[in-house]
Amino acid sequence: MIDELASIGSPHRHYSSTDSTNERARTLAIAGASSGTVVTATEQSAGRGRYGRSWEAPPGKALLYSAILRPPAAEHPLLSLLAALTTAEAIESAAAVRCEIKWPNDVWIEERKVAGILIESRPSQWAVVGIGINVSVEPEEFPEDLRWPAISVKRGASVQQLRLALNSTLTEWLRAPHSGALVAYRSRDALSGREVEWTRSEASAALAGTAAGIDDAGNLTLRGPDGILTVSSGEVQLRAAQSEASKG
Ligand code: BTN
Repeated sequence: MIDELASIGSPHRHYSSTDSTNERARTLAIAGASSGTVVTATEQSAGRGRYGRSWEAPPGKALLYSAILRPPAAEHPLLSLLAALTTAEAIESAAAVRCEIKWPNDVWIEERKVAGILIESRPSQWAVVGIGINVSVEPEEFPEDLRWPAISVKRGASVQQLRLALNSTLTEWLRAPHSGALVAYRSRDALSGREVEWTRSEASAALAGTAAGIDDAGNLTLRGPDGILTVSSGEVQLRAAQSEASKG
C-alpha cells in the first residue's frame, strides 16, 4: 500500500475552468490515470455535492480538489471518514482555527460548514475523493439557502497551501493504522452526545436520537427509544432547537 500512496498530488492537473473536478478525475481514472493523480480547478460550472445537490463557489475562492485512488487505497474501509479528517487537519495547518466533523464528512468551523466531500467510485477499480473547501468566499457570495451555515477558512490561508496540505495529510492517513484514524476522528465528532435526526433517504421519515459515537467500522451510533441504532448511510442533522446549522 505504501508505494501506491507515495505521491498523492503527482501528477497534478489544473483547469482554470471545468464542469466538475470529480467528473474530470473520473474520466482520467477510466482512461487509466495513476493512483494519487489530483485534479483541481479555479472554477467549476457543474460542481457536484452529495445527494445530487450542486456545489457552487466563486472563481478562485475555494479549493476544488479531486484525488484519484486505486486499490488498495480506494478500498480503505474508512475512506469517507479519512477524507474528512484529512480536510480538517489541512485546514488547521493553514489557519488558526479548530475544525470538527459532522458525520460522515462535513467539516465545520464553529458549527458552520467550511468543506464538503463527495466520494465517487467504481468498486475494485478506482475512487475519486472530491473535496471542496471554502477558502475566502464572502458571506454574501454563498448560495442563498446556505448563507447562514456556510463559512470560509479566511485568516490568510491560500488555495495552494490547502492543496499541498491535503496531499500530505491524505497520504499520511491512508497509511496510518485504522485505530489511530478512529481516535483522531472521534476527537472531532461534532455530533457526540447531541440530539439529532437521521433520514435514511428523502422518501423516509426522520428518526430522532442522541448521537452516541462512531463505531470501529465508521458507522454513527444513535441512542433512541428502542436502543442503539447503527447508521451507515443517510443524512443526519442536529435537531433544530440545538443549532441553526442544522439547515446545512
Ligand atoms: C457536499 O455536498 O458536501 C459535497 C461537496 C463536494 C464538492 C467538491 S468541489 C471538488 C469536487 N468536485 C465536485 O464536483 N464536487 C467535489
